[in-house]
Amino acid sequence: MTRQLRIEPDGVAIDAVAHDTILQAARRGGVVLAYECGWGSCGACKVTLVEGQVELMYPGAPAVNPRDARRNRILACQSRAISDVTIARGPGEWSAPTPRCVEQQAILRGIADLAPEIRQFSFETAEPIDFRPGQYAILHLGDGLRRCYSMCNLPGTNILQFIAKRYEGGRGSNTLAALALDAGITIEAPFGACTLRRQPGRKVFVAGGTGVAPILAMLREAADAGLDFGAPVDVIYGARAPADLAAGDMLEAAIARVAQARYLPVVEAAPSDWPHASGFVTDAIRTTIPDPAAAEFYVAGPPVMVNAVKSLLRGADVPITQVHYDAFG
Ligand code: FES
Repeated sequence: MTRQLRIEPDGVAIDAVAHDTILQAARRGGVVLAYECGWGSCGACKVTLVEGQVELMYPGAPAVNPRDARRNRILACQSRAISDVTIARGPGEWSAPTPRCVEQQAILRGIADLAPEIRQFSFETAEPIDFRPGQYAILHLGDGLRRCYSMCNLPGTNILQFIAKRYEGGRGSNTLAALALDAGITIEAPFGACTLRRQPGRKVFVAGGTGVAPILAMLREAADAGLDFGAPVDVIYGARAPADLAAGDMLEAAIARVAQARYLPVVEAAPSDWPHASGFVTDAIRTTIPDPAAAEFYVAGPPVMVNAVKSLLRGADVPITQVHYDAFG
C-alpha cells in the first residue's frame, strides 16, 4: 500500500511504498535527509513527526532518548509510514546529494579468504549501482535480516565488493558466510555520508577491523583520480593481531599511488618481531599526529573504536566538521 509522505519546510509530497523507511522514501522522492549510520546508532537522521502514524522498526535504538519521544522526534532510518505522514526537518537536516538509492537483485560471484574468518564477497547486479567511495549498502539476507556493509571497490561496474568478518553467534555474519556462489540476495544502496572531501589539506584515515572497506574505497578513489592533497596523508589500520589486518596488501597498494601517503598498521597483540606500532588506533593517533586539529579525519570501524577516536579528537579540539565516520558493529 502506498502512503503519502510530506516533508516540511520543503513542501514536498512523496509516495512511500509499504516497506520504505522515511529516509528511503524521501530519497526516492529526491529529498536527501541527513544520515550517517542507517541503523539507529548515530541520530543524524532525526526528524519531527508532525502528523500521522509511523511504525518504529527499532524502538530501543541507541540514538533515541526520552526527550526525543516527548518532542515527537523519530529516526527517519528506522521509521515507516503506516498512514499519510508529515515530517519536518530542521534547517541543518539535509545532506549533499549522493547517487539515488536503488534496490536490485544481486548474485554472489566471488568469495576470497583474506584472513581468519574475514572474507571479501563480490556481488553482481544486473545494472551498475552508482555510489560514492566510502558509502555502504544494506544487504537483505532473508527472513527480514538486513546488514550494512561498505563497498571496498569503486563504482562504475556492476560488481559490489564487501569485506565481512564472521562472528561466532552473529546471525547476519553467519548468514552471509553461509551463502554459496551464485546465491541471490537483494542489495539496497547507496547510504552513508562518510565520503572523501577532495579539497587540499592534511588527511588522516583510521580503520579498525573490517572498517577498512570504506577507507580502502576512498584511498582507491584518491589514487585513481591522481589527487594530490598537498599535505601528508596518514592511514592508520588497527586490528587485534597482524593476521587480522585482512586488507593490508590492498591498502598498501592504494597508498603507494597517493602522494605523501604513509601506512601505519597497529596491532593490540604484537609478536616480538612485529616491526610496526602496538596498541590501539588511538595510541597511533597520539604518537603520529602531532596537530590533529589541523587534519581532517575519516574513521571507520566498530562503534567502540569509532567512539574512542571521536572522544580523543574532541579532547584535541578537532572541530566535528573535520571528522567523518562510519560505525558498524
Ligand atoms: Fe538514522 Fe544513524 S540513526 S542514520
